[in-house]
Amino acid sequence: MITMKVTNSKLLDQKTDCYAFIVEENFTISKTMQDLAKKAFPELKALFEHHKFTGRLLSTVVLPISLHDRIVQCIFIGMGKHRSDKTIDFEHYRRAIGQAIKQASALKCQTVALELQSPKHFGVTAEYLISQTTTIANMAAYHFHDFLTDPERRGIDITQLTVCTDLKDTKSLQLAIDEGEIIGHAVNQARHWIDMPPSMVNPQFLAERAREIAKKNGLKITVFNEKQINEMGMGGLAAVSRGSELDCELVILEYKTKKKNAQTIAFVGKGITFDSGGLSIKPADSMENMKDDMSGAAGVISTMEAIAKLKPEVNIIGIAPIAENLPSGTAIKPGDIVKFYNGKTAEIKNTDAEGRLILADALSYAVKHYKPDAIIDVATLTGAVAYFLGAFYTGLLSQHDELVEKVQEASKISGERVWRLPLDEDYKVAIRTPVADLSNTGSSRYKSGTITAAWFLHNFVGQVPWVHLDIAGTAFDVPDIPYYRQGATGASVRLLIEVARNWK
Ligand code: BES
Ligand code: MN
Ligand code: ZN
Repeated sequence: MITMKVTNSKLLDQKTDCYAFIVEENFTISKTMQDLAKKAFPELKALFEHHKFTGRLLSTVVLPISLHDRIVQCIFIGMGKHRSDKTIDFEHYRRAIGQAIKQASALKCQTVALELQSPKHFGVTAEYLISQTTTIANMAAYHFHDFLTDPERRGIDITQLTVCTDLKDTKSLQLAIDEGEIIGHAVNQARHWIDMPPSMVNPQFLAERAREIAKKNGLKITVFNEKQINEMGMGGLAAVSRGSELDCELVILEYKTKKKNAQTIAFVGKGITFDSGGLSIKPADSMENMKDDMSGAAGVISTMEAIAKLKPEVNIIGIAPIAENLPSGTAIKPGDIVKFYNGKTAEIKNTDAEGRLILADALSYAVKHYKPDAIIDVATLTGAVAYFLGAFYTGLLSQHDELVEKVQEASKISGERVWRLPLDEDYKVAIRTPVADLSNTGSSRYKSGTITAAWFLHNFVGQVPWVHLDIAGTAFDVPDIPYYRQGATGASVRLLIEVARNWK
C-alpha cells in the first residue's frame, strides 16, 4: 500500500522523486507552475507549446529537473474538457491519477507529490476527492509480480503519495484517507487472488482467506464442506464439484451493525476457481483466463473485510459458493438432473453453464436462513454480456426498480459502471425442459444468454428484492483505463462497498 501524506506546505518544497500536475484542457499556468519555471525550467511554456500540450484527456508531458539536490520528474497530465455545467467528469480525474502513478513508476520514482485539486472543479466534497485519490492511486500501483524473477521486470513500487492542500481540517481528511485505503486494499486483495494461478487458488485456499479475514476483523464465519453441502441437499454446488478431486466449499461471512432494527443485505459471489467447462469442455483459447471465474467470490469475500472495517449501518451477509469445474470420470454429464437446496430441479444440458448451478444453492440458502431485505449477486456468468457491453460496463439485471436505483447510486459514487438489461417475462420460457423444472441453458431460439441466465437465478430468490450483476466482461483484462492493468480489475468491490455504505 502507498503511504498517504497530507500537508499544508508547498508542492515545490516537497522532497520527492516526482511532482504530478493534473490539469484541465486549456489550463492556465498556475502559481506553482510559475514557481517551477522560475526555480528550475524557465522555458516551461515553450515546452508545453513544443509538445502541443493543452491538457487533452490523458495527454502527458514529462520534464526531469534538478531541485533540492536531486532529480525530480515533473509529470503533466491532462484531464480533458469540462462539461457544460463547468464541472469535470470525476472519472477523468480518476484516470489522470491512475496515469500519474503508472508514469511515475515507469520513471523509477518511489515517491510522488501533487497539489489537491479544488473539489469544486468536480462538484464533490474534499473528503470524497481525497478518499477517491487514495483508492485510485493504490489501484494504479497494484501489480502482480509474484512470479517474476527478473528484478528489472518487477519494476518500482510507489511507496508514498504526498497531497499538498490548503484545506485545514486534517481530521476529516485523515478519515477520508483511511476509508480510501480500506477500499483500495479490498480491491487489490481481490485482484491478487484472481491473478494467482488456479491450482493455488482452489476452493480451500479461498475458504482459508475468508477464515483469516473473519478472525482478524471479528466477522462471524461458517464454512460448509462438500460432505455437508451434499447432506444439506445443495445438489447444484455438489454437482459442479463432482469432476474435481477437490472439495467444494460454501463460505458465509456475517457482519452485524450495532444499529437497532437495521436491514440485512446478502452479497453472493460466484466462486469457480477454474472453469474448464467440464465435459462440455471449452476450446483452449476460451479457457485461457478461466482462473478469473472466481472473481465474484473474491470480490464478495474481500468486500466483507472492508465492510468489517468501515462499519456501515446495515447487516451484510457475504456468501461464496466455491468449486472447480473439471471433466473426469466422475463429472456431471449433459442430461443429468440435479435438485437444489430450495427443492427445484434442473436438467444440465451444458456443464459449462455451471455458475448458475452453484449460485442457485447459495441464493436459496441466503433466502431461507437470513430473510434478507435485498440480495445482490456478482458473477462472471456469461460470455454473452461482453458482446454488448464490452469491458466497460457490468451487466445489471433485476425486476426491482428501487434496488436498481440504489445500485446505480452506488455506481455513481464508486465509479464502477453498470448498465441495466431487460428482464422481461418474454425471456423466461427459454429455460424450459420437459424433464425438469428448469434447463441450465436457454433454448437457442431465444438467444440472449445473459438474460436467460438471470431468469434461471430468479427461481432461487423467492420474493426478495434482487439484483444480478454479470461481471464476465469487467472482471479481467479491461483495456485503456490507467488505474487497471492487464489481469484482474477487482470488479464489484468498490460498488458493493458503496451499496452498503449508502444503504437507507
Ligand atoms: N465462466 C463462464 C462465463 C465467462 C465467459 C466468464 C468469458 C468470463 C469470460 C461461464 O461459466 C460459461 O461458461 N458460460 C457459458 C454459458 C453457456 C454454456 C450457456 C457461456 O457464456 O458461453
Ligand atoms: Mn462455464
Ligand atoms: Zn463459469
